[in-house]
Amino acid sequence: MNTRLKLDAISKRYGGDKNSITALQDISFTLTEGEFLAIQGPSGSGKSTLLNICGLIDNPSDGDYYLNGISVAQLSISERCTYRRRDIGFIFQRHQLIPAMTVYENIAYPLLLNGVQPKQIKHDVNQLLNTMGLEHRRKHLPKQLSGGERQRVGVARALIKRPQLVIADEPSASLDHQHAHAGLQLMRELNKQYGASFLIASHDAFVIDHCDRKIELLDGQLKASP
Ligand SMILES: Nc1ncnc2c1ncn2[C@@H]1O[C@H](COP(=O)(O)OP(=O)(O)O)[C@@H](O)[C@H]1O
Ligand SMILES: [Mg+2]
Repeated sequence: MNTRLKLDAISKRYGGDKNSITALQDISFTLTEGEFLAIQGPSGSGKSTLLNICGLIDNPSDGDYYLNGISVAQLSISERCTYRRRDIGFIFQRHQLIPAMTVYENIAYPLLLNGVQPKQIKHDVNQLLNTMGLEHRRKHLPKQLSGGERQRVGVARALIKRPQLVIADEPSASLDHQHAHAGLQLMRELNKQYGASFLIASHDAFVIDHCDRKIELLDGQLKASP
């Protein structure tokens, strides 16, 4: 299996020297192609910080990391942006759908940003709407949806461009069990279908049990070595 993501002694400190917070300390692990990896840890343990770094949203204070063997530190800002837009999908706890856009438009948006042709966009979005049982909600706005439907739209938006890496920050935290399970199953199916690697922060035992492997964070440090 090829390595998708490799972290080598990543640390992150927030704030200035005097009152700085160490959010991550000496984190190393690898994520292979198609792997479904859980990051477990209590609130404040550094999960979101770690995901933001892996998703190229934030920079580490120390350490190296590699996407498909390329050192992220060596990439220019615009190369990172391109990577993030093209190859990484994000699923957030609060979905962060665009309120003024319909379900269809929210899902189509990443393809629009990537310059995909309109005909292709229509085809891909319609297909995914069907797969995810959202066909009848295509013209609705996020505020008109249930929590479970919003989560499905969030998952669809993250997966529409078939990213190599999907990053999910507590995707089931605001959902009841039934909807959380359905969302997870969907991620799993698409993981098998497209071979995307998943990095999922969660403290939901059900989610963690359904991942290939888990790593545990405590106070910014890895508890058990993977
Ligand atoms: N932007 C920030 N500025 C300062 N401290 C932060 C910032 N983001 C997170 N932290 C701190 O870093 C630590 C880890 O936070 P976070 O990564 O959000 O953990 P988790 O997602 O596991 O709850 C916490 O102590 C938090 O207060
Ligand atoms: Mg968090």
